Amino acid sequence: MAITIRQLIQYKQQGRPIVALTAWDYTIAQLLDVAGVDLILVGDSMSVILGYDTTLPLTLEETLHHAKAVRRGVRHALMVVDLPFLTYQESIQQAMHSAGLALKEAGGQAVKLEGGYPAMVETIARLVQAGIPVMGHVGLTPQSVHQIGLRQQGKTETDRQRILQEAIALEQAGVFSIVLEHIPSDLALEITDKLSIPTIGIGAGPHCDGQVLVTSDVLGLSEKQPPFAKAYANLRETITKAVQDYSFEVRQQKFPQK
Ligand code: KIV
Ligand code: NA
Repeated sequence: MAITIRQLIQYKQQGRPIVALTAWDYTIAQLLDVAGVDLILVGDSMSVILGYDTTLPLTLEETLHHAKAVRRGVRHALMVVDLPFLTYQESIQQAMHSAGLALKEAGGQAVKLEGGYPAMVETIARLVQAGIPVMGHVGLTPQSVHQIGLRQQGKTETDRQRILQEAIALEQAGVFSIVLEHIPSDLALEITDKLSIPTIGIGAGPHCDGQVLVTSDVLGLSEKQPPFAKAYANLRETITKAVQDYSFEVRQQKFPQK
């Protein structure tokens, strides 16, 4: 049975942790889906597989191209598509257009937009009114890297209050869930308690209603990974070894066999 937004909200009420991961292609999406992940995010973190240093250069076209591949691999999980930088901040119209493509062309079931400042809350409210499910994202928002860097957010009292108020405003605007990235765990707990929609944490401690990580970090495939990520495998090592073994056998004329 395919996971619905209603179910994810029920998971929070039942105290059942939500499992989320990112996917950028068919192969990984299909593996995650069969493994039983609840929510698959076509994150703009796909920037790393395109060789970009930040998420800023990623285009909507690139996102849609990858999202369509993910769609073909996902049957069970809820599929959420990240809108890339400056494909939704310009105007409500622009956001509606981009989100529309993510749903109509790529087959996503929801979109994720960064930020909880008043103009973004208004944009999100309009998308939700139009029938587009939206996931919020506050705390460290990597599309603002040149303003805030990649450090933990919500360290000062003013910042904590701002992030809490943003989360509350996003819930009122109608988001069905919200990503809390790289904030202190007691702040994530406070937000999680105050909201009736599920919080999905990344680098936000154990008190969120669910957790998300970038799949290449979980698999040990990333060149560098954030301090809060955990690698459950070492694919860099596995791949390097396999390629070296193959190269050796070809050069030694051991593969293929006669
Ligand atoms: O792009 C991404 O992968 C994300 C998650 C890590 C939340 O936004
Ligand atoms: Na993202």
